[in-house]
Amino acid sequence: MDQLKKANEYVKQNRIPKEELPVFHVTPPCGWMNDPNGFSVYQGKTHLFYQFHPYSTVWGPMHWGHYETEDFVKWTELPAALAPDQAYDEAGCFSGSGIETEKGHLLVYTGVMEKEEDGQKYTYQNQCIALGDGKAYNKLAQNPVVTGDMLPKGFSREHFRDPKIWKEDDGYYMVVGNKTDQGKPQVVLFHSENAIEWEYVSVLAEDKNGNLGTMWECPDFFELDGEYILLASPQDLCAGSEFHNGNNAVYYTGSYDRGRHVFDYSHVYSLDDGLDFYASQTMLSADGRRILIGWMQTWDANIRPADQKWACMMTIPRELRLDNGRILQSPVRELEKYYSNSVHYDQCTIKGTCQKEGIRGRVLDMTVELLEGDYTSFDICFAQNEKHFTKFTYDRAGKTIEIDRTYCGMIRDVLAQRKVPVKVSGDVVKIRMILDKYSAEIFINDGAQVMSTTFYTPLDADQISFVCDGSVAVNIDKYDISIGEMA
Ligand code: FRU
Repeated sequence: MDQLKKANEYVKQNRIPKEELPVFHVTPPCGWMNDPNGFSVYQGKTHLFYQFHPYSTVWGPMHWGHYETEDFVKWTELPAALAPDQAYDEAGCFSGSGIETEKGHLLVYTGVMEKEEDGQKYTYQNQCIALGDGKAYNKLAQNPVVTGDMLPKGFSREHFRDPKIWKEDDGYYMVVGNKTDQGKPQVVLFHSENAIEWEYVSVLAEDKNGNLGTMWECPDFFELDGEYILLASPQDLCAGSEFHNGNNAVYYTGSYDRGRHVFDYSHVYSLDDGLDFYASQTMLSADGRRILIGWMQTWDANIRPADQKWACMMTIPRELRLDNGRILQSPVRELEKYYSNSVHYDQCTIKGTCQKEGIRGRVLDMTVELLEGDYTSFDICFAQNEKHFTKFTYDRAGKTIEIDRTYCGMIRDVLAQRKVPVKVSGDVVKIRMILDKYSAEIFINDGAQVMSTTFYTPLDADQISFVCDGSVAVNIDKYDISIGEMA
């Protein structure tokens, strides 16, 4: 049987019941998921593909799974779109992107190929195209359309992946992650008039100071509120004031020299300070919003229960804005369509530890506004029962925020806490928390700083409590999210 058919048959036989999955976050129907891919509009619907290994809950030969949505909240599963079934992609259909063209829905991905040469094994990564109608996709006979041979001398052919395509007045462009043979990370740019025949243009950006890891995965380049933004996911970072060890997802601000096609970054910031966020990708929605989605997982810390038959999920799609050179992220506004059971508290005082009538649950959107108060530390504990909880802490005196899942029920000795400086000017005044069974996405001061984290606590742990070492007046708005049957 052909490989794509085999994968789709397997999914049919092994699909996880919806009740076991998060409600509005995209997961694989079974097996393993990593990066979001091909996030794009085609014929009025938004499509999201993802790195998919249906056959087990660990990474394996990469397929592209597929969902579509009309509102970023309710997703319809479609058959997997790509399988590693050609000589040029037999070691995997790695990450990439999508765009609507007059030829159809065009997906561009990295085909990975392994070759024995002189008794040694070499890996080659090249860019390939598949065209489809929003449901089924055909790989081009011309594949791979962008090969390592098109790169200047001294650029890696082995680490050359994750094409992100977009269109401008003079044709199509794509950025691809790459590094030099000396190990310097960089993003390279290609141009095409017809999206099929490509030419190398430039090194769009490179690690200027040698402190941003070894390889910039999943680059993305776009305009946001009049400024150019480069997004990437660097591997192998060393912790500093802005970043944590290992894989980070970052954005660069700076100036773009359009004539030379060179982006000179002046600042690099973390996109998300939680424990689980990587490989994010953006799209422009039909109504002109720049929407970001990330893989809500980190490569190095697996805390999933061993008997769980699905692995990993996406974040909620987030609307991006630029404010004073910084990205603000907010959950897509469409989430509000699914609000139910609202509970509000106005100017209520929190002193010590307390729970509030009606404030509990594992699938909800809650905003806590911190008003006047005499306190130095404020916590929200959630997914809580007598045994378990996960905790968000705002240390006002120390000017830090922290997420701590030590007591979420995990049985692996992997990273459970992350504490970072408050990166907003002034006090934390608003904490918005999106919970969906096994995840929390926490947006500080209208998304100026975000922390995303997974936990696999039994669902009966649904209490929420507040802890204040002094006293603070708060407003609380809580909405449950119910979306009915996922299609
Ligand atoms: C990022 C990444 C990409 C690659 C994909 C493979 O998480 O390593 O660079 O294309 O995952 O699944």
